[in-house]
Amino acid sequence: MDMFEAMEKRYSCRNYLKRRVSEEDLALILDAGAKAPNAGNLQNWIFIIARDENKKEQLTKASLNQRWMMGSDLFIIICSDSEPSKRFYSEKGKTYDMQNCAAAAENMLLMAAAIGLGACWVGSFNQEAVSRILKLPGNITPQAVITLGYPAEKYKKEKRSSLDAFTHFEEYGNKISDQTLAKKLSSDLKTLYQRIPRERKK
Ligand SMILES: Cc1cc2nc3c(=O)[nH]c(=O)nc-3n(C[C@H](O)[C@H](O)[C@H](O)COP(=O)(O)O)c2cc1C
Repeated sequence: MDMFEAMEKRYSCRNYLKRRVSEEDLALILDAGAKAPNAGNLQNWIFIIARDENKKEQLTKASLNQRWMMGSDLFIIICSDSEPSKRFYSEKGKTYDMQNCAAAAENMLLMAAAIGLGACWVGSFNQEAVSRILKLPGNITPQAVITLGYPAEKYKKEKRSSLDAFTHFEEYGNKISDQTLAKKLSSDLKTLYQRIPRERKK
Protein backbone atom coordinates (compact mmCIF):
# COMPACT_ATOMS: atom_id res chain seq x y z
CA MET A 1 0.00 0.00 0.00
CA ASP A 2 1.41 3.39 -0.92
CA MET A 3 1.12 6.41 1.35
CA PHE A 4 -1.73 7.93 -0.65
CA GLU A 5 -3.76 4.80 -0.14
CA ALA A 6 -2.70 4.71 3.52
CA MET A 7 -4.09 8.22 3.97
CA GLU A 8 -7.40 7.03 2.58
CA LYS A 9 -7.44 3.81 4.60
CA ARG A 10 -6.35 5.24 7.95
CA TYR A 11 -9.11 5.33 10.51
CA SER A 12 -9.36 5.13 14.29
CA CYS A 13 -9.41 1.42 15.07
CA ARG A 14 -10.90 0.52 18.46
CA ASN A 15 -11.38 -3.22 17.99
CA TYR A 16 -8.34 -5.50 17.81
CA LEU A 17 -7.37 -9.14 17.37
CA LYS A 18 -5.62 -10.86 20.25
CA ARG A 19 -2.32 -10.96 18.39
CA ARG A 20 1.09 -9.66 19.31
CA VAL A 21 2.42 -6.86 17.11
CA SER A 22 5.61 -8.13 15.50
CA GLU A 23 8.88 -6.41 16.35
CA GLU A 24 9.31 -5.64 12.63
CA ASP A 25 5.96 -3.85 12.42
CA LEU A 26 6.64 -1.97 15.63
CA ALA A 27 10.05 -0.89 14.37
CA LEU A 28 8.52 0.45 11.13
CA ILE A 29 5.93 2.44 13.06
CA LEU A 30 8.46 3.93 15.48
CA ASP A 31 10.74 4.79 12.59
CA ALA A 32 7.87 6.56 10.80
CA GLY A 33 7.31 8.63 13.95
CA ALA A 34 10.97 9.53 14.10
CA LYS A 35 10.87 10.75 10.49
CA ALA A 36 8.30 13.46 11.26
CA PRO A 37 9.08 17.12 10.71
CA ASN A 38 9.94 18.88 13.96
CA ALA A 39 10.95 22.40 14.96
CA GLY A 40 14.68 23.00 14.60
CA ASN A 41 15.16 19.25 14.08
CA LEU A 42 15.46 18.98 17.86
CA GLN A 43 13.69 15.60 17.74
CA ASN A 44 12.76 16.20 21.34
CA TRP A 45 10.23 13.38 21.48
CA ILE A 46 10.27 10.24 23.54
CA PHE A 47 8.31 7.13 22.56
CA ILE A 48 7.36 4.84 25.45
CA ILE A 49 5.97 1.40 24.64
CA ALA A 50 3.55 0.00 27.21
CA ARG A 51 2.73 -3.65 26.69
CA ASP A 52 2.47 -4.94 30.24
CA GLU A 53 -1.23 -5.61 31.01
CA ASN A 54 -1.04 -3.96 34.42
CA LYS A 55 0.58 -0.86 32.94
CA LYS A 56 -2.02 -0.78 30.14
CA GLU A 57 -4.77 -1.06 32.73
CA GLN A 58 -3.43 1.91 34.69
CA LEU A 59 -3.03 3.97 31.52
CA THR A 60 -6.54 3.05 30.36
CA LYS A 61 -7.96 4.18 33.70
CA ALA A 62 -6.03 7.44 33.32
CA SER A 63 -7.65 7.82 29.86
CA LEU A 64 -11.25 8.22 31.04
CA ASN A 65 -11.32 4.43 31.39
CA GLN A 66 -11.86 3.92 27.65
CA ARG A 67 -12.15 0.14 28.00
CA TRP A 68 -11.68 -0.64 24.29
CA MET A 69 -8.02 0.43 24.69
CA MET A 70 -7.27 -2.80 26.59
CA GLY A 71 -8.01 -4.83 23.45
CA SER A 72 -4.99 -3.41 21.67
CA ASP A 73 -1.64 -5.17 21.97
CA LEU A 74 0.32 -2.14 23.09
CA PHE A 75 0.29 1.59 23.60
CA ILE A 76 2.89 4.03 22.33
CA ILE A 77 2.97 7.09 24.55
CA ILE A 78 4.47 10.00 22.63
CA CYS A 79 6.06 12.47 25.02
CA SER A 80 7.93 15.73 24.57
CA ASP A 81 11.10 16.85 26.32
CA SER A 82 10.73 20.55 27.14
CA GLU A 83 14.39 20.98 28.06
CA PRO A 84 15.84 21.55 24.53
CA SER A 85 12.76 23.34 23.16
CA LYS A 86 12.64 25.77 26.10
CA ARG A 87 16.33 26.51 25.65
CA PHE A 88 15.95 27.24 21.92
CA TYR A 89 12.46 28.72 21.74
CA SER A 90 11.41 29.89 25.25
CA GLU A 91 7.59 30.03 25.55
CA LYS A 92 7.00 29.12 21.90
CA GLY A 93 8.74 25.82 22.65
CA LYS A 94 5.56 24.52 24.33
CA THR A 95 3.61 24.90 21.10
CA TYR A 96 6.38 23.22 19.11
CA ASP A 97 6.48 20.33 21.61
CA MET A 98 2.81 19.58 20.92
CA GLN A 99 3.17 20.07 17.18
CA ASN A 100 6.27 17.86 16.93
CA CYS A 101 4.54 15.06 18.79
CA ALA A 102 1.37 15.46 16.72
CA ALA A 103 3.42 15.14 13.53
CA ALA A 104 5.11 12.00 14.91
CA ALA A 105 1.72 10.57 15.89
CA GLU A 106 0.25 11.09 12.43
CA ASN A 107 3.30 9.52 10.76
CA MET A 108 2.88 6.48 13.02
CA LEU A 109 -0.84 6.21 12.20
CA LEU A 110 -0.14 6.37 8.48
CA MET A 111 2.56 3.72 8.67
CA ALA A 112 0.27 1.51 10.76
CA ALA A 113 -2.42 1.80 8.08
CA ALA A 114 0.11 1.19 5.30
CA ILE A 115 1.27 -2.11 6.82
CA GLY A 116 -2.17 -3.37 7.81
CA LEU A 117 -2.28 -2.50 11.50
CA GLY A 118 -5.04 -0.72 13.37
CA ALA A 119 -4.28 2.27 15.56
CA CYS A 120 -6.07 5.04 17.39
CA TRP A 121 -4.87 8.37 18.71
CA VAL A 122 -6.02 8.84 22.30
CA GLY A 123 -5.85 12.36 23.64
CA SER A 124 -8.35 12.15 26.49
CA PHE A 125 -6.02 11.29 29.31
CA ASN A 126 -4.96 12.86 32.57
CA GLN A 127 -1.43 14.14 31.98
CA GLU A 128 -0.44 14.04 35.66
CA ALA A 129 -1.70 10.48 36.10
CA VAL A 130 0.06 9.26 32.94
CA SER A 131 3.29 11.00 34.03
CA ARG A 132 3.08 9.28 37.41
CA ILE A 133 2.40 5.84 35.89
CA LEU A 134 5.34 6.17 33.48
CA LYS A 135 7.64 7.78 36.07
CA LEU A 136 8.28 10.75 33.82
CA PRO A 137 10.68 13.44 35.05
CA GLY A 138 9.32 17.01 35.20
CA ASN A 139 10.61 18.04 31.76
CA ILE A 140 8.88 15.13 29.98
CA THR A 141 5.18 15.59 29.08
CA PRO A 142 2.89 12.93 27.60
CA GLN A 143 1.29 14.39 24.47
CA ALA A 144 -0.50 11.47 22.82
CA VAL A 145 -1.26 7.81 23.37
CA ILE A 146 -1.42 5.56 20.32
CA THR A 147 -3.13 2.18 20.68
CA LEU A 148 -1.81 -0.44 18.30
CA GLY A 149 -2.77 -3.91 17.15
CA TYR A 150 -4.12 -5.91 14.26
CA PRO A 151 -7.66 -4.83 13.43
CA ALA A 152 -10.60 -7.12 14.20
CA GLU A 153 -12.95 -5.06 12.05
CA LYS A 154 -13.32 -3.71 8.57
CA TYR A 155 -12.06 -0.21 7.93
CA LYS A 156 -14.64 2.34 9.00
CA LYS A 157 -14.64 5.60 7.18
CA GLU A 158 -15.83 8.52 9.29
CA LYS A 159 -17.87 11.11 7.46
CA ARG A 160 -15.73 14.05 6.32
CA SER A 161 -16.89 17.54 5.43
CA SER A 162 -16.29 18.68 1.86
CA LEU A 163 -13.29 20.93 1.34
CA ASP A 164 -15.38 24.03 0.86
CA ALA A 165 -16.49 23.78 4.50
CA PHE A 166 -13.08 24.97 5.66
CA THR A 167 -11.13 26.30 2.68
CA HIS A 168 -10.78 30.07 2.39
CA PHE A 169 -8.84 32.07 -0.19
CA GLU A 170 -6.39 34.86 0.60
CA GLU A 171 -8.23 35.82 3.79
CA TYR A 172 -10.70 34.47 6.26
CA GLY A 173 -14.23 34.47 4.91
CA ASN A 174 -13.48 34.13 1.19
CA LYS A 175 -15.04 30.72 0.61
CA ILE A 176 -15.12 28.76 -2.59
CA SER A 177 -18.53 28.39 -4.11
CA ASP A 178 -20.13 24.97 -4.36
CA GLN A 179 -19.66 24.91 -8.10
CA THR A 180 -15.89 25.29 -8.03
CA LEU A 181 -12.83 23.61 -6.59
CA ALA A 182 -14.33 21.61 -3.71
CA LYS A 183 -17.03 19.98 -5.79
CA LYS A 184 -14.63 19.20 -8.58
CA LEU A 185 -12.09 17.78 -6.15
CA SER A 186 -14.54 15.58 -4.32
CA SER A 187 -15.70 13.97 -7.55
CA ASP A 188 -12.23 13.67 -9.10
CA LEU A 189 -10.14 12.89 -6.01
CA LYS A 190 -9.84 9.18 -6.70
CA THR A 191 -8.42 9.83 -10.14
CA LEU A 192 -6.05 12.43 -8.73
CA TYR A 193 -4.74 10.03 -6.08
CA GLN A 194 -4.15 7.34 -8.68
CA ARG A 195 -2.15 9.75 -10.80
CA ILE A 196 0.20 11.04 -8.10
CA PRO A 197 2.44 7.99 -7.55
CA ARG A 198 2.74 7.28 -11.27
CA GLU A 199 3.82 10.82 -12.03
CA ARG A 200 6.28 10.90 -9.13
CA LYS A 201 7.99 7.70 -10.33
CA LYS A 202 8.82 9.18 -13.76
C1 LIG B 1 -5.93 15.04 19.42
C2 LIG B 1 -6.81 13.82 19.25
C3 LIG B 1 -7.36 13.22 20.39
C4 LIG B 1 -8.15 12.08 20.25
N1 LIG B 1 -8.59 11.44 21.37
C5 LIG B 1 -9.32 10.32 21.27
C6 LIG B 1 -9.72 9.62 22.45
O1 LIG B 1 -9.38 9.97 23.57
N2 LIG B 1 -10.47 8.51 22.28
C7 LIG B 1 -10.84 8.04 21.04
O2 LIG B 1 -11.52 7.01 20.98
N3 LIG B 1 -10.46 8.68 19.90
C8 LIG B 1 -9.71 9.81 19.99
N4 LIG B 1 -9.27 10.44 18.84
C9 LIG B 1 -9.65 9.92 17.52
C10 LIG B 1 -10.77 10.75 16.88
O3 LIG B 1 -11.98 10.48 17.54
C11 LIG B 1 -10.87 10.39 15.38
O4 LIG B 1 -9.65 10.69 14.74
C12 LIG B 1 -12.00 11.16 14.67
O5 LIG B 1 -13.24 10.79 15.19
C13 LIG B 1 -11.99 10.91 13.16
O6 LIG B 1 -12.13 9.53 12.89
P1 LIG B 1 -11.04 8.71 12.07
O7 LIG B 1 -9.72 8.85 12.80
O8 LIG B 1 -11.53 7.28 12.09
O9 LIG B 1 -10.96 9.29 10.71
C14 LIG B 1 -8.46 11.55 18.96
C15 LIG B 1 -7.87 12.16 17.84
C16 LIG B 1 -7.05 13.25 17.97
C17 LIG B 1 -6.39 13.83 16.75
